[in-house]
Amino acid sequence: MKAIELTAPSLTALRATDLPDPVAGPGEVLVRLRAAALNYLDVAVATGGFPVPAFPMVPVADGAGEVAALGDGVSGLALGDRVIPHFMPHWQGGAITPRHVAAMRGLTLPGSLADYVAVPAASLVALPAHLDFAHGATLPIAATTAWNAVRSAGVRPGSVVLLLGTGGVSIFALQFAKASGATVILASSSDEKLERARRLGADHLINYRATPAWDEEVRKLTAGHGADLVVETVGATTIARSLQAAAMGGTVFTVGFVGGTSAPVDLLPVIVKALRVVGNNTGSVADLAEAARAIAAHRIVPVIDRVFGIGDTREAYAHLAAGGQHFGKLVISH
Ligand SMILES: NC(=O)c1ccc[n+]([C@@H]2O[C@H](COP(=O)([O-])OP(=O)(O)OC[C@H]3O[C@@H](n4cnc5c(N)ncnc54)[C@H](OP(=O)(O)O)[C@@H]3O)[C@@H](O)[C@H]2O)c1
Repeated sequence: MKAIELTAPSLTALRATDLPDPVAGPGEVLVRLRAAALNYLDVAVATGGFPVPAFPMVPVADGAGEVAALGDGVSGLALGDRVIPHFMPHWQGGAITPRHVAAMRGLTLPGSLADYVAVPAASLVALPAHLDFAHGATLPIAATTAWNAVRSAGVRPGSVVLLLGTGGVSIFALQFAKASGATVILASSSDEKLERARRLGADHLINYRATPAWDEEVRKLTAGHGADLVVETVGATTIARSLQAAAMGGTVFTVGFVGGTSAPVDLLPVIVKALRVVGNNTGSVADLAEAARAIAAHRIVPVIDRVFGIGDTREAYAHLAAGGQHFGKLVISH
């Protein structure tokens, strides 16, 4: 089969290659992959920011495709079914364990830049009927994480949700929060992106370059209340203001590290406002399935900034690695 391998932790170490076709073992399904979607994690792997055990490896965690063969003992699936293989295939549900983290597609297991992959049948989620493969490929990491954030905070009509930036997680969180009836405040570096967010339903827009004290702006916009949910997609450079922007009893859902992982933090807002600071590592197959059901029920269409051909994989990575150039998701089609 045709595949793209990453031969070293470098954006220039992506190369086209031919590999033996995988075979579905007992309880597994062979998936003909049709699309892969990039996450910041894939760039971290390709730049040495996130260690992987061995090179060369087939990168990219997220993808979608169709069932091409069934291993022994697999039932409930048929050839041609449109499916999304989950990123952590052994994490069916419940709390995360070291075993789940040890098996991640595109890191320790073969990823989505190949014609075929063999995965446990139990790790597959049906592609929502209104989505094509490119849109479906965007779901495992970004949609699951955004869904977990909205669910964790019990977002409901009248909730205030603060989103940082216009990357994949933020834009899914925007779509889920609006579907839940929330008021959304979104901060971005770009007025043009803020306008796109407004068209997707964002209620209040803040340019965080023009308004560096965006936490104060959030409190002003909400008459002092603050945000019931802050989806913390940035990390070290924003966490202090995110804690300030949160409402009494609010949730700061901490997922991102595009702005680094280490920062001094004033604990007073956490204590005084009795905040819930919730860490999250993507989600289980059950979480992905629930996110996909929400997407189907609300007929949400994931926002794809650009679709690259597999021959332009390096360009796709460079586009994401440049930071701040995209809005929503980047997809590689094959
Ligand atoms: N732990 C988990 O469960 C989990 C799951 C998924 C993702 N993540 C992490 O979450 C982060 C976001 O993921 P993603 O896929 O959405 O990334 P992405 O698509 O690369 O988006 C990152 C966005 O962050 C925004 N940004 C950068 N600096 C900012 C700042 N100082 N203030 C506000 N916004 C800022 C930029 O938006 P603008 O261009 O609009 O300014 C940028 O587009 C990454 O670190 C990723 O690894 C974690």
